[in-house]
Formats: sequence, C-alpha cells, structure tokens
Amino acid sequence: MDISERILKYLSNSENVDTLKLASEFNEDHQKIVGAVKSIEALEMVISEAVKSTKWELTDEGHSVASAGSHEAVLYRGIPEEGILQAEVMKKVPNAKVGFSKAMSLGWIFIDKSGGAPIVKRKVSSIQDIVQENLNEIKKGIDNLAENVRNDYKKRKLLQEITLKSFILRKGPQFATTIKKLETDLTSEMILSGSWKTLQFKPYNFDALGQPPECGNLHPLLKVRSEFREIFLEMGFEEMPTNQYIESSFWNFDALFQPQQHPARDAHDTFFISSPASTTQFPMDYLERVKKVHSEGGFGSQGYRYEWKIEEAQKNLLRTHTTAVSARMLYQLAQQNTFTPRKYFSIDKVFRNETLDATHLAEFQQVEGVVAARGLGLADLISLLDAFFRRLGFHRLQFKPAYNPYTEPSMEIFAYHEGLGKWIEIGNSGVFRPEMLLPMGLPEDVSVIAWGLSLERPTMIKYGLNNIRDLVGPKVDLQMVQNNPICRLDK
Ligand code: PHE
Repeated sequence: MDISERILKYLSNSENVDTLKLASEFNEDHQKIVGAVKSIEALEMVISEAVKSTKWELTDEGHSVASAGSHEAVLYRGIPEEGILQAEVMKKVPNAKVGFSKAMSLGWIFIDKSGGAPIVKRKVSSIQDIVQENLNEIKKGIDNLAENVRNDYKKRKLLQEITLKSFILRKGPQFATTIKKLETDLTSEMILSGSWKTLQFKPYNFDALGQPPECGNLHPLLKVRSEFREIFLEMGFEEMPTNQYIESSFWNFDALFQPQQHPARDAHDTFFISSPASTTQFPMDYLERVKKVHSEGGFGSQGYRYEWKIEEAQKNLLRTHTTAVSARMLYQLAQQNTFTPRKYFSIDKVFRNETLDATHLAEFQQVEGVVAARGLGLADLISLLDAFFRRLGFHRLQFKPAYNPYTEPSMEIFAYHEGLGKWIEIGNSGVFRPEMLLPMGLPEDVSVIAWGLSLERPTMIKYGLNNIRDLVGPKVDLQMVQNNPICRLDK
C-alpha cells in the first residue's frame, strides 16, 4: 500500500489527524507524508490545515549528558573514596568546571583544606542523576518538566525549543480509501463517445512552478561582429546597407572589372539563382561604360579585349563578396555633384560554392572596409590597416603581394598572433583600379582603398574553436553559445 492510501485508511477511522503523528505511527519521514497529503488533497480526498507546534528537543550536549550523565555526576564519580587533589580532578574530568560548581551546590562534594593543598572529597555516599533521567525522558517523548527546571536546562544549553510545521487532516468531499486514477487529458475519443461526461479529470495545479524561461544568448559571431562594428564606428566609418543577399553578376563581378571568363564566375564557384535567373534593371549609361572598359579599354587601360555580353552580367547569384555592396555604394557616391570623402564598412553574409571542410563553409560573413578620398595610395592603406588591426589586438602585420581583378596593387594581410605564436593570414586588401572607379564617374584624383576579412576566422581564434562546424550549423553546442563570454578583443 502506498503512503497516500495508508493515510486515507487511517483517516477513515479518525478525524483531525496531525501529519506529525502519522509520521511517527508509520515510521516515515514527515516530508514524505506531506508530499502524499498534497497529492490526495489535489483530488479533494482530504482537507488539510497548516499548524505550527513547538517541541523541546535535546541539544548535542543534551544528548551526550543523556548517555554519559550530567557533568556534576561525572565529576562526582571521578572522585575516589579517599578524595583527590582539586587541581588533579579538574584536569582529569571533562567539563569539570561546571560539574564542580553544580556538585558543590547540590552538596555532593566538599573541599578539605586541612592538609594544605585542597582536596575534593565525596560528601554523600550515593547520588541520583536527575538531569540525566529527565533528559532521557524527553528523548522518549515524555515531557513533564517543571518550568524552572526546563529554563535551567535551556540555560545550560541541554535543551532547545524547535518549531514544527505540520498539517491537521480531515476527510474531503471526495474522500475514499482507495485512489481512483483520474484522467489527465481530454481526448477526441472521449468527446466522440461522450465518455467525458462520466469520467473524472485531474484538476489543474495552477500553483505548480513553470520551467524557468531560458533567455536568449548572442552567438559568438554576433559578439565578435558587434566588437568589429564598434571599432569601425570609433574610426568614423559608416555602415553600408547589406540587406541584399541576391545580387546580379553585374554588381558582383562586372562593375569590379572582373572579366566574364574569370573562373570565379563559374557555377563551380558561385551559386547562381534559377528563379528569377536574371535582372534587367541597371543604370544603362554606366553599364555601357563598364562594357566598354571590359571589351575595348579606356581611361588609359587597354581592357580585356573580349566580347562583353549583357546576358552574362544579368545573371542573378548569391553575392560572393560584400565588395558588390561597396561597388554599389561607390557608384552612388560618384553620382554626387561634388565628391565628398567617405569611409564605409559592412559586416554580412556572402556565399561561395566551396567544398566544405573544417575551415570552409558555403556561406560565411565578410567584414569589409572602404575609404574613398583624393590622393590615397598604398601607404595610406598600410597605415589604415595598421590602425584597424591594432584595435583588434594585432600589433605586427606583414603584407604579401596578391591579385584581385579589381585592385592594383593588392595585398594579402598577415598578422602575428601572440596567443598562437605564429603568423596567420587574416585578410585581403588593395587599391581599387581606375577601370572600376572611372566608369562609375568618380573624379580622376579620387582613389579608393579597401580591405576584407572573414568574421568566422577571428571568432574561431578568439573562442578557441578549430572546426567551423562547432560555430555554424546543426552541430553547434547551445551550451557553448550560452557559456561563452562577451567578446573583448585584447587591445
Ligand atoms: N572581396 C575580397 C574577397 O572576397 C576582399 C577584398 C575587399 C579585397 C576589398 C580587396 C578589397 O576576398
């Protein structure tokens, strides 16, 4: 029989039962009884009323007195027939100080100073240890102590008063000695068969505590992104609108003086969109200039000398770099009547048809910075990169000549990572070519310097991850997301 049913059986023969009494009768833990009461109370089988009672209980010292005897009795027993030097008995007996004064006032012992050094002797031939007897009674649950005696024991720290919380039980409206299993769900079958009319349902427990709500947590990429954004904003850069994942080949490649036969424009490298497969909305005079610079040259360049096709430029794709956004921004900038120098940045997603591995995904985030001003050169780019990466915590940079269709010169950026103790490649950069800027209509003396890097790489380094799948995708450990601290790049 489980505890709930035992309680019900007990209650069928008696009214107003205290759960404390049940605990001692059943020899069960009181908390267990209370738990069972709560469940049958929810079924309205019992009604409970919380009560408080107080009880006197032995302290730890009280327990040791109950078993070994009071301090005065222990001292008395420590005195041999012929007596003992006071100094000696005080050393030999535990709690001798208390025991001595109590035994003296009870008249059990006396001091004989006739021989010089004080000797303690028994004054009576036998004693009754009332303290020990009383404490043992209380231990058994019998409490007939007179008030003054109780106070004395309390003062001696042998007894303490404790408060007990319990419940007085009565039969409830649904009282029975067996528990019927109640329905917890209303099912469609019950409704169809009409059985719901006779079935008994378990009442809702509106006092039950809900699951603590888990709060949202920023993903490490978002934490690092906000740190990058902060750095750009501190350096006076304005953010470009990057809310357009689908781009035309024109803005992604052609505007950037990337020839139409370039291998990056292959379906092996780029995700093309099948529907809608193409775009026809372009600033046509600008498109004509782009066509010309590719096929015939111009602005001092001989161009690529091939037949530029608008169909190729019209193809829609998932942008392969945020430089497509930079191209749009620079084109807009070129439409101003008077040129004003600008500093732009963006941090957003790009897509490449990559073979996936531990460090490559088909979509990732790019961080890009662009500065347009009169007379900028490679030296400005190097000093800007130095200032930018210094804020990220990289104090030593190295550059390696590189190639991009849209920049000349171009540089790969390497930084010495103090934590990893090695040089790591962290970005790409360059000075945009006149073949890109002049068809847009930017003044001839305006140059644009720019650089780009991925957001994932610094994030993986920062958070010590070596597989990109631990950072992005279905295998991301949410606990990792939750536990990782905010990003503070060590400046
Ligand atoms: N677009 C380049 C890339 O995707 C990065 C870059 C940006 C290079 C600007 C030079 C200038 O890697």
